[in-house]
Amino acid sequence: MYELTGIRKYFHRGAETVWALDGVDLDIADGEFLAIQGPTGQGKSTLLVLLGGLDRPTEGRIVFDGRDLGRLAELQLAELRAADFGFVFQSFNLIPTLTAQENVETALVPFHLSPDERRRRAHQALVDLGLEDRVGHLPSELSGGQQQRVAIARALVKDPKVLLADEPTGNLDEDTRDEIVGALEGLWRNRGLTLVLVTHDSWVARRAERIAVIKGGRVNYGDASWPSTGREPDPELVA
Ligand SMILES: Nc1ncnc2c1ncn2[C@@H]1O[C@H](COP(=O)(O)OP(=O)(O)OP(=O)(O)O)[C@@H](O)[C@H]1O
Ligand SMILES: [Mg+2]
Repeated sequence: MYELTGIRKYFHRGAETVWALDGVDLDIADGEFLAIQGPTGQGKSTLLVLLGGLDRPTEGRIVFDGRDLGRLAELQLAELRAADFGFVFQSFNLIPTLTAQENVETALVPFHLSPDERRRRAHQALVDLGLEDRVGHLPSELSGGQQQRVAIARALVKDPKVLLADEPTGNLDEDTRDEIVGALEGLWRNRGLTLVLVTHDSWVARRAERIAVIKGGRVNYGDASWPSTGREPDPELVA
């Protein structure tokens, strides 16, 4: 599904250049559940942003289903983002003045569905996340866990190929964290989604099929040599 080769990404801060990613090679299989784990400031979100076509690498190739995301025209990239990539963030990013139902419907706007069809699909997505009795609530009238479920419904209502989640449980207590990870895992299993989940939480990472540890802008799977050769994670690093 994804093939990343020699990915580097830098940002300029004044005269300084920050290499957020510094040579990432990573393959992600169709239908895989991959966790990206690592300490703060090591390039996790930068990598997720590139996977979702929200930015382009400075160097290297990022191929998604045969297309090089770094070289696609902006319009094609926008189409991919709308159709194939669903995003979930730590801070939910719901629109505060819209109800749960309306928030989910926003993801369907690019598809020119009839209003009835849009309503039906958004409602079903909320039902799938166990929120049938909360569809008319504003985000401020929902718990953190419920808000994240709305955000997941919004990401999945368009039936994307990939779900990209950046610290989706970072703002939640332990019980709610477990519930949200369980919901994500269930959706991944039942829908054949590819799920890429960024977390610094080892408990969350261990629920994935595979863990990529990112440190200093490079990915490691546990080989003593650095960077990785694509094997299992180093238990020391992911403990
Ligand atoms: N837009 C930007 N401009 C300048 N520097 C940036 C920018 N975005 C990220 N960086 C830098 O790139 C590095 C990696 O950032 P990134 O957000 O990917 O880290 P992270 O692993 O997601 O961290 P966290 O766990 O705190 O979310 C950091 O040093 C950060 O300061
Ligand atoms: Mg981050």
